[in-house]
Formats: sequence, structure tokens, C-alpha cells
Amino acid sequence: MAHRVFAGERLVVASHNRGKLREIAALTDSLGLVTLSAGELGLPEPEETGKTFAENALIKAHAAAKRANLPALGDDSGLAVEALNGAPGIYSARWAGPRKDFAGAMDKIETMLADRRATGARDRKASFICALALAWPDGHVEVFEGSVAGRLVYPWRGRQGFGYDPMFQPEGHAQTFAEMAPEEKHEISHRARAFAKLMRQVFQGSRDVGTQARQA
Ligand code: IMP
Repeated sequence: MAHRVFAGERLVVASHNRGKLREIAALTDSLGLVTLSAGELGLPEPEETGKTFAENALIKAHAAAKRANLPALGDDSGLAVEALNGAPGIYSARWAGPRKDFAGAMDKIETMLADRRATGARDRKASFICALALAWPDGHVEVFEGSVAGRLVYPWRGRQGFGYDPMFQPEGHAQTFAEMAPEEKHEISHRARAFAKLMRQVFQGSRDVGTQARQA
């Protein structure tokens, strides 16, 4: 099916997560759009009842597009640890609890791996996954996914980024996401890769995003 081309001037970013908003702002920067966050529009956070990243991204995008009567971009993302059968996955934010305790969430991953005696090099394999859904007020939606493979490090390293970034070292890199400059993470991240697909199909690839992400 043909993709719908984005022709508007205003876009709602359907997230209340400051780390995501910062990264999405950097990615949408070159589009010359007016972007409005769900928070500044006073939109509520819908319940994430989906079973997949794509379903949850759709829930967020649809809810915001309807409420704001504008196209809205929803992001659902998380960390999938192979030796934990993909956990925390879509529950990545929930593992940190209402106090957003990501140190605790990273400790929990390490404890669970130890409890399962998953202590080999192969057990450190993980990936970040991001689904981006762009919904229009008339109900049309476009969904794109991106992922990046890597390994878990513990103790974690770095202070940049957000969430599980300090524990994640992308394949082929010596630094964790939290040790990288934001621009470096944007070259290879799951979010940038999903965004590159969105750009190609919906914004017709007319603007620049990270070169490696564009090839993904
Ligand atoms: P949700 O998509 O709002 O359910 O939350 C996704 C959660 O996954 C975030 O709160 C982070 O914990 C984690 N996450 C998603 N993307 C990233 C990232 O780029 N770096 C670190 N953590 C991330």
C-alpha cells in the first residue's frame, strides 16, 4: 500500500518522556515543522495496553492525534535482553517504576541474569527497539520500526542519554550510549533508524538524518 506523504506544518510529539522528546526534537529539527509535545498541549498519557512496541506506539499516536486534531508521532521503545526472553521489552519504562529509577531497573536486569546463571558472554546480548507511529486525525497511520544490537555492560558507564543508555554498548563501538555524544547516538540508534524509514516513506527522504541510520 502506498504511504501517505506528510504535508502539514504542525506535528504533535505524543510523549511525556524528556529523553525521547530531546532525541525526537533533534531528529525532526531539519524538517522545518512546528512541533508540539503532548505535555505542552496538556494531553493525558494513554494506558499502554498493547502487546507490541508497534501497538503501543499506535495507541499513543492515535490518542494524541484525536485530542489535538493534528498529526501526531508516537514512540514506543525499550530494551530487549536475549537471555531474559526479550525482557524488559515493552515494560522497559514500567521496570523503573513511578520514580523512574533506572539504576534500580539496570540492577534488576543484572540480578535476573545472575539468578538464571546467565553469566556467559552470549548472555550479554541485547537490543534497543523503537516503533514510531504517525497518526492523522482521520485515523490513517504509518508505523516504522528500528533496532540496534549490542551488549550489556555492568557496572554501567556514562552520564549522557537517558533510561538504560549507560548499560548498553552498541555492536562495533567501545562506548555505551551514555558515553557517546548525542550526535553519535543519533547516527546509529534504534530511534534514528525508525525515523530514517519514516523520513524515506512519509517525508520522502528530503531531509538529512544520520548517515548510518539512513542505510539501516
Ligand atoms: P515507553 O516507550 O514510554 O514505554 O518507554 C520506553 C522506555 O524504554 C524508556 O523509558 C526507557 O527506559 C527505555 N528506552 C527507550 N529508548 C531508549 C533509549 O534510547 N535509551 C535508553 N533507554 C531507552
